[in-house]
Amino acid sequence: MTRSNNPQASQMADESMVRGLSAQARAIWPQEQELLSKYALPEAPRILDLACGTGEISERLGALFPRASLLGVDIDAAHLEKAEARCAAHGERMSWLEGDIYEVDLPSGHFDLSVCRHILQAVPDPARVAQRLVEATRPGGIVHLVAEDYAMMHFHPTRGDNDRFWLDGPIVFANRLGSDLRSGRTMFTILKRLGLEDVRVDYVTIDPMRVPREVVAEIWVAWRDGFAEPISQETPFSSEEVHDQFESMIECIRNPEGYFIWHLPVVSGRRSQS
Ligand SMILES: C[S@@+](CC[C@H](N)C(=O)[O-])C[C@H]1O[C@@H](n2cnc3c(N)ncnc32)[C@H](O)[C@@H]1O
Repeated sequence: MTRSNNPQASQMADESMVRGLSAQARAIWPQEQELLSKYALPEAPRILDLACGTGEISERLGALFPRASLLGVDIDAAHLEKAEARCAAHGERMSWLEGDIYEVDLPSGHFDLSVCRHILQAVPDPARVAQRLVEATRPGGIVHLVAEDYAMMHFHPTRGDNDRFWLDGPIVFANRLGSDLRSGRTMFTILKRLGLEDVRVDYVTIDPMRVPREVVAEIWVAWRDGFAEPISQETPFSSEEVHDQFESMIECIRNPEGYFIWHLPVVSGRRSQS
């Protein structure tokens, strides 16, 4: 989701984020790797993983493209340490750079594949992030975004109205911190306006047909642990109400008769050759 301004809440959110990233990778990667495999990339692609976090996906990219070299960039040194340790088996073809996505010095027109996952909804200017990715990508290279949109998740049966909760709770919370949890739907237009070709939106579908319920429950438990308190502090919902909303979604996810659907936009485009 997005970070709180309160340091204690931030620490809790970080611990739960790390847990959540692991579960998200297990939920999403099986479908995402099929999309990545379709790109026309050189045999030894140069990959950028911008805001790589703990390297969950850097590691998987290294395995999917065994001759790739990968640069992982993140602002958080502790996350980069985890990423480096996780990817140690891939050896020197993985490198790491601590820096801010808006300012870090990236080689221009260099990467065959520039990946950015689970961050555009949490930063103030996702269009600027997309522009940085495009600039770092070589002409003919691919920009690949996992662009979350928190109004694209639905549950039945649950107590209360979760659709309304996402709008009036987490989305308002993120707006107060300057980010847009519905940025996923904006990225098609943003990539078009940046002049990319073959811009498309695919969907990773997180539902009980495709992803084990317990893996999805792990994501929601991590979000509850990290964000229920900060959301209650920034919105009209009480702590009990926010917890109850998360609990009702988690019960639905674990209920063999429950259905949930999280449409996760994967937005991609090719940098023009000209
Ligand atoms: C939700 S995690 C996603 C990690 C990874 N992309 C993945 O898919 O597993 C977001 C990451 O973005 C990093 N981050 C947040 N703001 C950043 C910034 N301004 N510059 C670079 N990294 C940033 C955080 O430290 C965190 O590791």
